[in-house]
Amino acid sequence: MNIQPAERMNHIKPSVIRQFAEAALKQGLISFANGNPSPVTFPVEYMKRFYQEALETGDNKLFTYGAVLGYPPLVEALKKRLAAKYGFDFEQNDLFIVSGGTQAVDLVSKIWLEKGDGVIVEEPSYSSCYNIFHAYEAELLGVGINESGIDTEAVEEMLKTHPEVKLIYTISSFQNPTGYTAVADTRKKLYELACRYDKIILEDDPYTELRFAGESVDPVKSLDTEGRVFYTSSLSKVICPSFRLGYLVADKRFRQYLNVCKQVTDIHSNTLAQYVAWGIMTKTDYEEHLNRAREEYRKRVALVTETLKKNMHPSCRISAPEGGLFMMLFMPDCVDAVEFTWKGIERGVVCVPGSGFLIDGNAPSHSIRMCYSTAPIEDVARGAEIIGKLTWDMIEGKD
Ligand SMILES: Cc1ncc(COP(=O)(O)O)c(C=O)c1O
Repeated sequence: MNIQPAERMNHIKPSVIRQFAEAALKQGLISFANGNPSPVTFPVEYMKRFYQEALETGDNKLFTYGAVLGYPPLVEALKKRLAAKYGFDFEQNDLFIVSGGTQAVDLVSKIWLEKGDGVIVEEPSYSSCYNIFHAYEAELLGVGINESGIDTEAVEEMLKTHPEVKLIYTISSFQNPTGYTAVADTRKKLYELACRYDKIILEDDPYTELRFAGESVDPVKSLDTEGRVFYTSSLSKVICPSFRLGYLVADKRFRQYLNVCKQVTDIHSNTLAQYVAWGIMTKTDYEEHLNRAREEYRKRVALVTETLKKNMHPSCRISAPEGGLFMMLFMPDCVDAVEFTWKGIERGVVCVPGSGFLIDGNAPSHSIRMCYSTAPIEDVARGAEIIGKLTWDMIEGKD
């Protein structure tokens, strides 16, 4: 066969994260690579209860094609939660259930992006979304991120010099991979810039419910009076990823586009899983379930942080996440992150090198992402100790 895939596929890259996560799985290593939630947080008993309940209702609506927008009781439960927690305005906005936050990013890209459009992304950032933007032939423009969130001065500079920018993609809380959270001032500045330069923002917030320290900060979407912020979050990290459920909050004037695009993608998301998620959210002590997950991650971060601080070379630093699943270890320029990761694997621990989160995945990087959520808790400190000691060996040139 001589037929070639579309040229835009040339920009799609295999996930470095998966590559290292699979290496860990095969070799039985301590894994800080997978971006999965901790299995101990999956509400299995509740799932049994509500799957059983769904089957016993005999309600055909749960088994046949459902509403494109989502299972109405779940839509309402999520709207109620977001209105109470963050003041989202559902007179102005719709909430769509989507098949994971990933699909929300895809749908927004499908509607808005044309060949050559610019997308500003935090760098480093979640590289699967780079692939989505590339699939729509957008050009990615990276700006830095620090403890206060996306570098808004760099965003403004980019907006001045790149009129082709249409969309700004931000992971505002407990960012993947850094663990950083944008402070309120950063969010306000970002929204003001989007208004001044007439851009849209795609706010990807799958970790928002997993805050275990510090004060809650409202999403950028809470500031949105103009309908230019598309907000997505997920049930993957708070119930389980295999449900493939997420949600997208978007101004009502885009309903028709979203409706049609969702329909032609998969008609609607899994209704049985939506029923179970609705049951868990509304008929159990959902807050208690979330608190248990938050406590699990708080404990794990404390363990990794304490162990790394004791064992790592003083020229290294680590991020201090207040929620979510990720932290980053930053090493001096003499350490190559890919080499570091392979040495870690030889010693029994796997992380993901920072280059996996850069637009140019081959660019040099001196940091690694550590996802503290999935390794058995008894392995977490041992894994962090190995990483800490490896920094000495790499920096002092002993390895
Ligand atoms: C920033 C970010 N967005 C989206 C996703 C994917 O979420 P979902 O399972 O809801 O598609 C992830 C998962 O790791 C993520 O880190």
